[in-house]
Amino acid sequence: MKTTKHICIGVIVLIIGVIIGNGCKVPESIANKSGAQLWGENCNRCHNAPDPKTYSDDQWDAATEHMRQKAILTNTEINKIRVFLKSAN
Ligand code: HEC
Repeated sequence: MKTTKHICIGVIVLIIGVIIGNGCKVPESIANKSGAQLWGENCNRCHNAPDPKTYSDDQWDAATEHMRQKAILTNTEINKIRVFLKSAN
């Protein structure tokens, strides 16, 4: 009897752990995408995706923060896009 109870508690703790753990994880689809991919998929939704050479690193910092809010991107997504945009200068 005692062992069954312990196994039950163990299973419940495990399930809760998996739920909480997964909530903090970056979705697989975003984790596998490069900054260039995310830029191509997101930055031309409202206007032509700007060429990475258009702005300086500082200007990209400001513009990507501005567009993170407009495009409602996660920090993970915009950080990858930012690194990609800056790498071209
Ligand atoms: C939801 C629509 C939308 C998306 C998605 C979007 N933009 Fe924009 N973007 C705008 C609008 C609208 C403007 C014009 C400025 C304004 O009204 O804020 C703009 C202006 C800009 C500018 C001009 C400078 C500035 O900050 O205003 C740059 C650079 C830019 N976007 C880059 C990007 C990049 C890079 C992405 C991808 C991460 C992106 N945009 C995604 C709507 C969008």
